[in-house]
Formats: sequence, C-alpha cells, structure tokens
Amino acid sequence: MHMTLRQLTLFKAVAEHLSFTRAAAELCLTQPAVSIQIKQLEGHIGMSLFEQVGKRIFLTDAGRELFVTCEEIFARIEALEISLNELQDTIKGSLKLSVVTTATYFTPFLFKNFLQRYPDVHLSLHVTNRKNVLGRLANNQDDLVIMGQVPEHLHVTSHKFLDNPLIVLAPPEHPLVGQSNISLARLAQERLLIREVGSGTRMAMERCFAIYDLELESNIELGSSEAIKQAVMAGLGISVLSQQAVNSELAAGTIKKLDVENFPLKRQWYVAHLNNKKLSLVARTFLDFLLTNARNVL
Ligand code: PGA
Repeated sequence: MHMTLRQLTLFKAVAEHLSFTRAAAELCLTQPAVSIQIKQLEGHIGMSLFEQVGKRIFLTDAGRELFVTCEEIFARIEALEISLNELQDTIKGSLKLSVVTTATYFTPFLFKNFLQRYPDVHLSLHVTNRKNVLGRLANNQDDLVIMGQVPEHLHVTSHKFLDNPLIVLAPPEHPLVGQSNISLARLAQERLLIREVGSGTRMAMERCFAIYDLELESNIELGSSEAIKQAVMAGLGISVLSQQAVNSELAAGTIKKLDVENFPLKRQWYVAHLNNKKLSLVARTFLDFLLTNARNVL
C-alpha cells in the first residue's frame, strides 16, 4: 500500500468532521482537492472509507479501522516530535492552543511576552466558542486550551490563572447609565444582545437569570464578543461581556458599565488539558509561563 501521511491527515480530518467541506476548510484546501486524495487513498486500500446516506457521510468498517490506526500513527509522530525536541537544548517546536473567543482580548499580550522569551516556538491558535473548545479538548486536538469554567464531565487537569469578571454594558446615552443597583428584572425589560448557543458568556448569563426565575430572551443573537461590543456601541441594546473585552472602550467612555445586582459575575480563566495527556516541553514551558506571569503581564 502506498498511502501517504498527507492522505492520512486529510482522511483523519474528514473522519473527525464527517464532512469533506469542513475538513477542507480546516486544512485551507478546496473540497475537490480533499475528495481526490481520499479517492486515491481508497484506491490504495481497495475499499471505500466513507458511505453517503442522504446528505450525511459515515465511516465504513474499513474507514473505522483506518481511523483508529491513524490516531495511533499521529500520536506516535507527536510523541517522536516531543522526544526529539527534548533532546535539544532550546525550547522550540509547535504550540497548538484553542481559546474561547473572549480570551482573544488578553492572550495576545501573553503570547508577545512568551515569544520574546522563546522566539523559536511556532504558535498556532484556534479561536472558537466554548462548545467547540470543549469538543477539541475531548478529542485531544490541542496542546492546551484556555476557557472559562472547566466542565465536570471530562477528565481534565486545569489551572486557574486569572480573574474574569463579567459586567453589564450599555451605550453611553442609555437611560440606565448612572443608576445604582439596577434589578435583574428591570434589566430583563431592556433589549438584551446575547451570544450564540455554545458560548460560555451566554451560559453564564442564562445561569444568572435562572437564579431569579427570569428567562433570558432576545431576538438579537451575535456570534462573537466583538460583534456584541460593536452592537452595544451602535446603540442596538445592552449586554453582558467579560470586562477584559471592553477595557479600552470603558476607558474611552464609548461603552458604560451598568451597576446591576449580582454583577460582576465572578468567573475565572482556566488553562486545561486531558488528564492523561503527555505535554510537550513547549506546552509545559507555556503552562509554567502562564501560571507564573499572567497576572503581571495583564
Ligand atoms: P465564549 O466563552 O467566548 O464561548 O463566550 C467565554 C467564557 O467561557 O467565559
């Protein structure tokens, strides 16, 4: 069999997503380019790896066998990279991180400091919402993930490294600006802008409203913290975000913080990985850096 590592990489991506289109997007390729390679791989093996039922695709028995083997092969290659790096004196190699969208407001400052100290590290950052970060964590797709609130259903090792207060935001001209101890029931009468399902910020908002038997209702959902921030500034409504996402707007006065009961919601930032994961030297170095320096850098 003359299958190549490249073909196995593409196969693994399609098998993980069960979608040629999503695999192609992840690997920055066109969908036909991925399909051709998978066809060639099936040619080498002499069996189909996927079957199509309606609009969905599924792994065949041969596909499932190959997927298990692929995971072993890529785990061995990763372990080899780790051992080879550790034979060298300098900290170098790749560092793959997934972070929730809100974390993008402070992680660049950390990375700048880290890369100043370790310039040979190649950093790759996957930014998505909480639900997707959890999926990547469960599938062991990154060296480390950064998120608020670690899930109990996964066996993970996690470390708190920073406070993450969530605050209520309004445009400067909003009538609630300047009022004290606004009740949540009063807040619920306003037009609330909320994040998409799967967002950790949304989850925190829902939990807070549930304590007061209030339902979080909105006809405006936005898919990122940045979109929420811009919408608040445009006067579209009020919302809840991590204070770190709006520090500069608060300083400039383009967004105002409302004084609402129960707020700020106290959350923390965590760095996490699966319990039995063997961290690379680069990942261990980044973890140490984060735990020692995050509060000073930020
Ligand atoms: P989010 O996550 O970007 O998915 O809202 C933020 C958080 O969990 O605090």
